[in-house]
Amino acid sequence: MLVKSAEFVTSAVKPTQYPEALLPEVAFAGRSNVGKSSLINTLVNRKRLVKTSSTPGRTQLINFFTVNQNLSLVDLPGYGYARVPESVRRHWGPMIETYLKGRETLRAVVLILDIRRIPGIEEQNFIDWLSLYGRAAILVLTKADKLSKSAQKKQRRAIAGALNVDETALTLFSAKTRQGLPQVWSAIERVTGD
Ligand code: GTP
Ligand code: MG
Repeated sequence: MLVKSAEFVTSAVKPTQYPEALLPEVAFAGRSNVGKSSLINTLVNRKRLVKTSSTPGRTQLINFFTVNQNLSLVDLPGYGYARVPESVRRHWGPMIETYLKGRETLRAVVLILDIRRIPGIEEQNFIDWLSLYGRAAILVLTKADKLSKSAQKKQRRAIAGALNVDETALTLFSAKTRQGLPQVWSAIERVTGD
């Protein structure tokens, strides 16, 4: 994908604040601090289109971006971070669920996992939940640069086992080295028809 333009559109917490549903859309989900915002920046080849942070839980709203004026990318707030205030956390689940359930133009959800961590029940539930609602999932193992090539392969096998999916369904990625960038783009292009 040749990215000619990438723009921030708006932040939202509820459907009335979403941009008009005109473009095919792909959303990015995963635990806090896993590298969702970094992955989007890498995809669009911009260092700081999306704010990244070493402080988990930085992205607390649903952020909409447009690429080449024909594709919408959505950065979702991360789940599973205990240190955000309870009042904030209570709204996250419903906010994300409402979006994932109802957004007509949503074509797929990229679930981003840290390659160093064997996913648990939260990830399994999320994947089951997506399939229950008929949402396609694109699974990405990020921060691959933290492991050697052979450790990456070994860890991919273990994660595939834990999630009960085929190894080939897991794309190795790094925002640092840009490993896996063409693979993530082609997965997105397959679901958006670009
Ligand atoms: P929240 O919005 O807080 O949920 O986090 P996020 O999932 O958007 O993560 P973000 O992209 O802000 O990255 C979190 C931290 O991980 C930052 O310090 C990034 O620099 C780092 N990071 C993200 N991707 C990679 C990667 O592929 N490799 C390495 N080494 N570090 C990464
Ligand atoms: Mg973020």
